[in-house]
Amino acid sequence: MTEHLVVIANREPYAHEWDDSGNVVVQRPASGLVTGIEPMLRAGGGTWIAYGGGSADRATSARNGCVAVPPEAPEYTLRRMWIGEDEYERYYSGFANEGLWPLCHMAHAQPAFRARDWDAYRSVNETFARAAVEETRTGGMLLVQDYHFALVPRMVRNRAPHAVTSLFWHIPWPHSDVAGILPWKEAVLDGMLGADVIGFHTRQYCLNFLDTVERYLECRVDRDAMSVTYNGHRTLVRAYPISVEWPYPSASRADGATLRRELNIPKQAHVSIGVDRADYTKGLLERMEAIELLLEENPSLIGRYVFVQLASPTRMRIRRYQQLADDLRELVERVNARFATASWKPIVLQMRTFSADEVRRYYAMADSAIVTPLHDGMNLVAKEYVAACDDGDGALVLSAFAGAAKELDGALIVNPYDAEQVAQAILRAIRMPLLERRARMQDMRAQIASHSIHHWAAKMLGDLRDIRQRRARFWPQRLPVVAQEAREVVAG
Ligand code: F6P
Repeated sequence: MTEHLVVIANREPYAHEWDDSGNVVVQRPASGLVTGIEPMLRAGGGTWIAYGGGSADRATSARNGCVAVPPEAPEYTLRRMWIGEDEYERYYSGFANEGLWPLCHMAHAQPAFRARDWDAYRSVNETFARAAVEETRTGGMLLVQDYHFALVPRMVRNRAPHAVTSLFWHIPWPHSDVAGILPWKEAVLDGMLGADVIGFHTRQYCLNFLDTVERYLECRVDRDAMSVTYNGHRTLVRAYPISVEWPYPSASRADGATLRRELNIPKQAHVSIGVDRADYTKGLLERMEAIELLLEENPSLIGRYVFVQLASPTRMRIRRYQQLADDLRELVERVNARFATASWKPIVLQMRTFSADEVRRYYAMADSAIVTPLHDGMNLVAKEYVAACDDGDGALVLSAFAGAAKELDGALIVNPYDAEQVAQAILRAIRMPLLERRARMQDMRAQIASHSIHHWAAKMLGDLRDIRQRRARFWPQRLPVVAQEAREVVAG
């Protein structure tokens, strides 16, 4: 059954940019969220409401901000919101990325909370909530994405009480002690609990969230039912581990071999790949240090091992991210200078944005992947790499602190802070007998095949449809006020 889906996500799936010659080019962001959400809209149509951040976005949209996408063969509507530069900076770089992002990730970065950022965050959430109410006027279901829009579910519920709304939080939810640092925690939690369903990647994040609301709000938490009843409204709190497309449109190993030649990588060398946004939570510096240790302890790998890191610049207006980019370049230069020979260097660092097609060629070139974030809600690169290994061969070194580690038993699980352990795991991936590599890969591929992005979407939409059906049955009846809570329990 198809229906009108309305997605709110900060990042647009297609940005139009002017190039140097004055032509419009289309850019796809390096975003796991976009990879995860778009197949739903492409399959059933609907509207994606996002910030219009491309330099040519206005020139390529209708007056109401709408444009049909994908540009080459439209399947759904992208509705762009226009937010002033200063307000956007305070909402996105400020409250969302200097406040909530470090708050929710265990990566030892101190969150910064400023009242003017909070004001901008509220105001941008209002703007998006108004658009969402317009888009769901005639029915449909609202899927709010991520920590940029914690307040939208409540704002929508206040205007359209019967709307069916979910909020999916793509990053971890911290322990309640940590959540308590947030100066506006009551307002943020109240905003989130306007949703009918709140989704996280893992059960642990759900439990952390339930502890948090129980501690800071007057509400009733039911851990058996995984729900919260607050001000007469019931919200389900569920784990929906996000995933990737299956089958995955991988590049051929022959394409990979061509890329290897283009990069001047010796034919027999073992190549590991890393694909990340250049974010301090991704553990890039720690990873490079582990590779340095690996080479130091295993001189036989000189000339026989290459690590290729794709790092897409991200959030570059924030100092911490500028600093990381500088530190990363410096560290890679140092390691390369230490070990390189006339015809070989151990680390190839490419810092730019890569299209999905380009990334697929890198996966096809790699013998193994290293995915070692310090903390990550899920990490779709881990799943993408496994899905891309359609010849059943390849090894994955994976951080224990990525949500994906809960599902990918065939990976070599490591503590990303432990350089020695990571180096050992890479060595194991390099030396792993073919039979073991295949068995581990088969196990991981089976997991993704049975839990693809389509399963993720179907599970979440299934829960929302149940709520909508029950609400349609009960909402029109004017039940006595005393039965308010019971009605919500039945309806929700
Ligand atoms: O990991 C959280 C997340 O919001 C993803 O959902 C998204 O793909 C990524 O960060 C991108 O971040 P940004 O839009 O700030 O570049």
